[in-house]
Amino acid sequence: MKVLVIGSGGREHALAWKSAQDISVEQVFVAPGNAGTAMEEKISNVPLNIDKFDSVKDFCIKKDIELVIIGPEQPLVNGLADYLQNNGINAFGPSKYAAQLEGSKTFSKNFFIKYGIPTAQYASFSNFYDAVDHLKKIDYPTVVKADGLASGKGVIICDDQTQAEKALKSMFKEKAFGRAGNRVVIEDFLEGEEASFIAVVSKDKVLPLVTSQDHKPVGEGDIGLNTGGMGAYSPAPIVTQELNKKIMDEVMYPTVNGLIEEGHPYLGFLYAGLMIKDNEVKVLEFNCRFGDPETQPIMIRLKSSLVQLCLSALKDELDSHTIDWTNKHSCGVVIASNGYPEAYESNKEVSIQDYDDSDVKLFHAGTKIQDDKVVTSGGRVFCATALGTDLKDAQKKAYNLVDKINFEGAFCRKDIGYKGIK
Ligand code: AMP
Ligand code: GLY
Repeated sequence: MKVLVIGSGGREHALAWKSAQDISVEQVFVAPGNAGTAMEEKISNVPLNIDKFDSVKDFCIKKDIELVIIGPEQPLVNGLADYLQNNGINAFGPSKYAAQLEGSKTFSKNFFIKYGIPTAQYASFSNFYDAVDHLKKIDYPTVVKADGLASGKGVIICDDQTQAEKALKSMFKEKAFGRAGNRVVIEDFLEGEEASFIAVVSKDKVLPLVTSQDHKPVGEGDIGLNTGGMGAYSPAPIVTQELNKKIMDEVMYPTVNGLIEEGHPYLGFLYAGLMIKDNEVKVLEFNCRFGDPETQPIMIRLKSSLVQLCLSALKDELDSHTIDWTNKHSCGVVIASNGYPEAYESNKEVSIQDYDDSDVKLFHAGTKIQDDKVVTSGGRVFCATALGTDLKDAQKKAYNLVDKINFEGAFCRKDIGYKGIK
């Protein structure tokens, strides 16, 4: 069987790497991929323009692709899954309609209210002056969010009215997030600890994956600007069995059943970003895809086949599907380029010292091969990922791997996993 993975990040490297481990898989293509996927056995990069849906379809037909896994949100929000499915191709990912859960904060917040899913109080604005007026009526801190996709960076936590007005100005007037900021959500600030709850969904069937926790802010101790994620670990001890059930009953099932009611059943990975406090759960956001970097520590724990899992969801057979995980813990540390999450440097040559440990894996993200060398090409460049007997052991191995990677301006957070260890 041949598999196509769409995307070029650390998530896609991990998804392709895991897919290639299935013995029934003869080849995995990644479009467009990165230097890491280019160097793996059984994996090849293909320079497809993923915005041109017909070129993806033509490639699938020509190569007889039996499964397409769509990694990033943008092609899903643009409708790539619908297009491929309508052309008879086995594409694993939600429809354009369902992907609005991530693609529009206003859509998702309205959906939460309609289906009784716990979330922060909010208001949505498409006009700067109405939004500024609203700032006079609320408590602080508050949270200002660009409505559309902004690579995890379109959320600004504001301590007072002046900061909130500045945030609105940056979105509406200065277009800091382009068209994503034409509409803005202002919502109550929630306290607590975050967790990522990711499941495989087919219609009303929800098969949760192991739990994980991301580290969004760029600086140690969760200080500084929000990023796409600076590292993650699994499992996340904050999600107890009791809480797991609560999340399924109060968040996951109401969401998938709500989408069925809307006439748009969900297929694909569904990721709830949650805030947890005193055993109560509120949804911060939904993502219509796997998390990055959560995928990396989750995939390294997966023992059964990712490909069979996706095919099972496509056949609507998740009821009888079981997933095997290792009991070991995992930790993934993102190595980023100087400047990230703002303007960052690129084209830096990378040196990677040899390592020999089956419990560690270096997933590439923003890398490419140029003149036979690996050079940086993105803000998040690698995710050094490791398994360990406990989180502390996994963390130590992940940081040992970090020490083997070098490029000018490389940095990482030194505390990935700290909440799980504390
Ligand atoms: P989102 O893209 O909506 O998940 O927001 C990105 C990050 O901003 C989250 O992971 C949280 O760390 C933070 N955040 C978002 N909404 C809130 C909120 N209502 N209260 C506190 N922090 C939030
Ligand atoms: N790690 C957060 C995300 O994938 O959106």
